[in-house]
Amino acid sequence: MRISDEALRERRVARTSRFLVTGGTGFLGSHITVALLRAGHRVTVLARSSKKIPARDRVARLADWFGLDEGVRRSLDVAEGDILDPGWAAAALGETAGPGLVDEIVHCASNTAFAERKRAEVEAANVGGLRNVLDFAARSGCFFFHQVSTAFVAGKRTGLCREDWVESGEFTNVYEETKARGEVLARDACRREGIRLNVYRPSIVYGDSRTGRTLRFNALYFPVKAAVFLRDIYLADIRERGGRKASELGIRMKENGHLFMPIRIEVGREGGINLIPIDHCVDVFMAILEDGLEGGVYHIVNSRPTRIEVIVEYAKRLFHLDGIETCGPEAFDARPKNALETLYDTTLDVYRPYMQDLRAFEIKNASPVLERHGLVCPEFDYDVFARCMSFAVETGWGTRLFP
Ligand SMILES: NC(=O)c1ccc[n+]([C@@H]2O[C@H](COP(=O)([O-])OP(=O)(O)OC[C@H]3O[C@@H](n4cnc5c(N)ncnc54)[C@H](OP(=O)(O)O)[C@@H]3O)[C@@H](O)[C@H]2O)c1
Repeated sequence: MRISDEALRERRVARTSRFLVTGGTGFLGSHITVALLRAGHRVTVLARSSKKIPARDRVARLADWFGLDEGVRRSLDVAEGDILDPGWAAAALGETAGPGLVDEIVHCASNTAFAERKRAEVEAANVGGLRNVLDFAARSGCFFFHQVSTAFVAGKRTGLCREDWVESGEFTNVYEETKARGEVLARDACRREGIRLNVYRPSIVYGDSRTGRTLRFNALYFPVKAAVFLRDIYLADIRERGGRKASELGIRMKENGHLFMPIRIEVGREGGINLIPIDHCVDVFMAILEDGLEGGVYHIVNSRPTRIEVIVEYAKRLFHLDGIETCGPEAFDARPKNALETLYDTTLDVYRPYMQDLRAFEIKNASPVLERHGLVCPEFDYDVFARCMSFAVETGWGTRLFP
């Protein structure tokens, strides 16, 4: 349903839009839900029950985690449903599919797996599930669809990645491919139905730069976690079993109290990893939601990617490690990978294409919004790294997130 500019502006100012957020139990979806609620909007979260916890309790637990006060919680509803089910809306919203049920949809639900062996599930969620949500958008009288996508719909494109539609291309994995297909699907459906569409394309999101808090421990966290895991194994070997296994791999305790772990990590001479903290991601999302009334494609990225060497140095400093070095591929011609390096390498495999990214992401659409709202991506400095990783360790890398 096409809404006039004026009516849309009025609804936004008066906070009379009813938002539906899919994927509201996820990392981005929960943060966006909270930001919408705190901005005074009414939000229904679409959530699934997990094996042990009903959907409603999962959302309540998240609301506690975010410290939402009672007043704000009154604007939050929960609907249980699975977007793979074409009848999800009827089940979730008691839908008679009549118009007026939902005004704006923020679609965050997604399968974010990269593995080819998970292709069927990833396609089902990111293409089939999206189609089901778009069908509901058309039936429900929704007038604005907010599609949370990824900067990596650019696939294997090099150079400048445009803030524009990606019609085709080569992709690094099924996630990128299905997210790109999803954007085109959303564009065509929204055009057909006269629904405004914003596509938000974040790069790689980590924890809150101010508090270190996060709900997900993948991407940036995974290789650091692997190094800490190895450290703990070999520290235990040294302290409790005489350190025979450690010494076979050249691992030893140094006089400065640091553990020496000889691991070379292959990185390119240029490029880095495009990281944004969740606080910035959400601030930019909200600013675009507010300003981008026409609809469009927006990159939410960092114009200063971080070199892997920097992350390695931060990790060594925080976790008292020595011996981990970055190097070019030629280093392995002279001395092939040792067992420890081969083991560690497997943790990096899926992330390698994102570790030495040489690309620039266009921000011609996002830039005016950032400027108007005075938003600058926080520096990924040692303090931010330390806050995020300390939170990760405190919470057992996510295993003790909730009391
Ligand atoms: N995290 C990043 O670094 C990043 C970067 C760029 C873009 N993005 C995009 O941001 C969006 C959210 O990603 P995320 O990192 O927040 O992922 P996430 O934490 O894994 O959250 C995914 C959400 O989708 C829900 N979901 C998956 N399949 C569903 C289904 N069949 N029916 C209903 N809900 C379903 C999940 O529900 P359950 O909790 O029940 O599993 C969860 O709430 C995705 O579109 C992703 O492409 C993320």
